[in-house]
Amino acid sequence: MKFFIDTANLDEIREAQELGVLDGVTTNPSLMAKEGITGRDNILKHYVAICDIVDGDVSAEVISTDYDEIVKEGEQLAELHGQIVVKVPMIEDGVRALKHFSDNGIRTNCTLVFSAGQALLAAKAGATYVSPFIGRLDDISTDGLNLIAEIRHIYDNYGYETQILAASIRHTMHIINCAKIGADVMTGSLSSIKGLLKHPLTDSGLEKFLADYNKGN
Ligand code: E4P
Repeated sequence: MKFFIDTANLDEIREAQELGVLDGVTTNPSLMAKEGITGRDNILKHYVAICDIVDGDVSAEVISTDYDEIVKEGEQLAELHGQIVVKVPMIEDGVRALKHFSDNGIRTNCTLVFSAGQALLAAKAGATYVSPFIGRLDDISTDGLNLIAEIRHIYDNYGYETQILAASIRHTMHIINCAKIGADVMTGSLSSIKGLLKHPLTDSGLEKFLADYNKGN
């Protein structure tokens, strides 16, 4: 399972990279705004700064909703850096653009996916990644994990190579359950990733080992 961090915060990206388990980064306009990164030029520079920290794929989201504009903006984003994956919303013009990018060797992440039908369309259009938002589904009393399972089933039926990128991860159990179901990638906060390493028996066990070692020294 690939681990992506879902943030535009450079310190958190560096920390996850230094942990040695980071495979990529996802961002979105809201995450950029949260870091105070505004204006086209600053946003583009920030994508390059992220690419310079990590070795893996970095999703950069288009803000256009018209086919021609999505294509133009996506091509500009892809030219920024070899690690950029163009993030395209699941709308009609977005699906057309996914096909265009796929035909032209530009990697994509289809975002704002909330149903199996949308994920099927994204795969048919040749998306590299599809991003079902499981936390936002849970927020409205709909089982987000069930969507991951449905998409896994459908993609396996037909051998689609589109990778399932479980997004809108809220906590460590989302990550563990996505891994059980077979999501290819998860994107979450640094705290959700670091939450995986915590167990009270590890802490108490280590404390005892160190105390016993120190008895003889
Ligand atoms: C995915 O790429 C999105 O950036 C993200 O996971 C959205 O998550 P949220 O529901 O926490 O905003």
